[in-house]
Amino acid sequence: MKFLSQIPGKKLSGKTVILRLDLNIQNNELKNSLRLQRSAATVMYLLRNKCSVVILSHKGRPDMKSKDAVKLSLKPIGNELEKIIGQKIHFISFADFKNAVKILSNKKQGEVFLVENLRFWKGEEKNDVKFAKNLSKLGDIYVNDAFAVSHRKNASVDAITGFIPSYAGLELESELEAFKKVIIKPKKPLVLIIGGVKISDKIGVIKKFITKADWVLTGGGVANTFFAAKGIPVGKSVFDKDSLSLAKKWTLNKKIVFPEDVSVDSGEILDIGPKTVAHYSKIISNAKTVIWNGPMGMIEKEKYQAGTVGLVKSMARSKDFSIVGGGETTSLILEKNLQSNISFLSVGGGAMLEYLSGKKLPGIEALKKSKKV
Ligand code: 3PG
Repeated sequence: MKFLSQIPGKKLSGKTVILRLDLNIQNNELKNSLRLQRSAATVMYLLRNKCSVVILSHKGRPDMKSKDAVKLSLKPIGNELEKIIGQKIHFISFADFKNAVKILSNKKQGEVFLVENLRFWKGEEKNDVKFAKNLSKLGDIYVNDAFAVSHRKNASVDAITGFIPSYAGLELESELEAFKKVIIKPKKPLVLIIGGVKISDKIGVIKKFITKADWVLTGGGVANTFFAAKGIPVGKSVFDKDSLSLAKKWTLNKKIVFPEDVSVDSGEILDIGPKTVAHYSKIISNAKTVIWNGPMGMIEKEKYQAGTVGLVKSMARSKDFSIVGGGETTSLILEKNLQSNISFLSVGGGAMLEYLSGKKLPGIEALKKSKKV
């Protein structure tokens, strides 16, 4: 795989870079968005190296038959990115796209463009070769800096690399470096923290790490599923019905730790309780490697953030390497200014889980196969 960071400045200068970012960010989450901050850093790196930049991204899962699809336009995110990079971003709308090559031929060096939500075109999710070829005409080289969408076999992630010299961007490179530390010979004790709503998304990671890990700490809907599997009433709490039988098997595994107290409101478990925070924190403090995906409670509401925040605080004391992923958890960490407690924050949600569970990510495999300059 070739990395953007390895291209000498002289060779980069004057190039138009097609930059695949993951700007799949809710409009109300832009303020503390790790994805936006990391994206801006790569755009600024390219501008310092005298490149022009054509940004590609998707947002949400638009249904083009519905009027609501327009709500998933990338325009508001472009406006936010503009503020961070301190430079105008020209927007290439859905209607403009057919003339994009012409529009770009009039650009001045150092200009930045953002193409509308790629999922507005059918070809993106179908990994359509013709669509990918059209995208590849928008620049001289392609850079994938979207770890968070690299698990999707989409035209702007996979097929495009067949047409143009392709590189891994700065953010993607830092993700791969960080994951190496927890996948290849992680230092022990190794603690895996698994929260969030659905256990089905996390089964692969638990399976992969159950032998290597010393402890698997559970919270959120994942813990509720274990409670339900043990026959403990969970009232109206979210849990994953389809994963009950597997959860039942795992309840016998001594490495998997369940909350000993929880915060309940109107019959719903909404956070782990203080005794659990203390117990989990002790385990985390003794860990040398910590991997965490998914919040411990309903952190959209401030009163249910205590469990997640408590564990983040205890991570300051874990000695070697910690990695935390998932949009909600990382936003909360940035909001509370606790990022120095963690060695690496991953922008990946689903991509993090798939990568950790040992799956090959199409975006990364495509870069490995891409032709070189
Ligand atoms: C994410 O937010 O996990 C990525 O942007 C991928 O989005 P998707 O699950 O809609 O493909």
